[in-house]
Amino acid sequence: MHTMTPLLKKQQAGEKLVMLTAYDYPSAKLAEAGHVDLLLVGDSLGNVILGYDSTIAVTVDDMVHHAKAVRRGAPATFMVVDMPFASYHGSFDRTLEAAARIFQESGADALKLEGAGDILTTIRRLTEAGMPCVAHLGLTPQSVGVLEGFKVQGKSLAAAEQLIADSLAAEQAGAKMLVLECVPHPLAKRVQELLTIPVIGIGAGADVAGQVLVYHDILTYGVGRLPKFVKAYADWNTSGTEAIARYVEDVKNGTFPELAHSFLMDEELIGALYG
Ligand code: KIV
Ligand code: NA
Repeated sequence: MHTMTPLLKKQQAGEKLVMLTAYDYPSAKLAEAGHVDLLLVGDSLGNVILGYDSTIAVTVDDMVHHAKAVRRGAPATFMVVDMPFASYHGSFDRTLEAAARIFQESGADALKLEGAGDILTTIRRLTEAGMPCVAHLGLTPQSVGVLEGFKVQGKSLAAAEQLIADSLAAEQAGAKMLVLECVPHPLAKRVQELLTIPVIGIGAGADVAGQVLVYHDILTYGVGRLPKFVKAYADWNTSGTEAIARYVEDVKNGTFPELAHSFLMDEELIGALYG
């Protein structure tokens, strides 16, 4: 179990917090080796790892399965785990059951919930039950059908004021952090100025406490066209495909395996073997 204290110390010292998603053992290992401050087991695993076209199909079982692998790969890093689609919108009993499962079985340090309104009451109650929560406002991908697509949020004055009110309410409800996705830079800046808790932005500009991006996006790994807010730091689609093609070619033309990759046997035994 990790607490927020070291992260809050960094925030107070003016150091940016860096969050990256991870979905399995190797991605978690690399993220920890790369010194990220926090990991997010995002329900974006639906798109990125499982090949769905949205996060709607992701289940509590999926989140537990992947988060356990991430925990094993990055035991020393603060791990936030998403509550998946519709797992926290029914009775509180049902929400508590899903939350406690994810929290206990995966070793999560915090849970992330999308939305305001009643969700903030849920955040308060989960916090009271001992589970730190991260709020997620702005573009909330689990509501993509209701939002009419993946679009920048909070663009009108009314929408911006609502986002500010919701952000303040999230902090009031006990949220330990706030993820703001796809909102205009000046609005995110205003939200961070008004809040004490760290705002972690994705497509929200630089004037917030930290940033989060998707692992497969920054490495260009299995993903297609990248959103405007992503910066790619590697091109694994290209280097990985090239490596695989070279392996295929080597086996086809007899270049691999070489003697160095093979196991030998005593001459005597070889003699006996061949009669
Ligand atoms: O699931 C996810 O990856 C997320 C981040 C994009 C914030 O929720
Ligand atoms: Na998510």
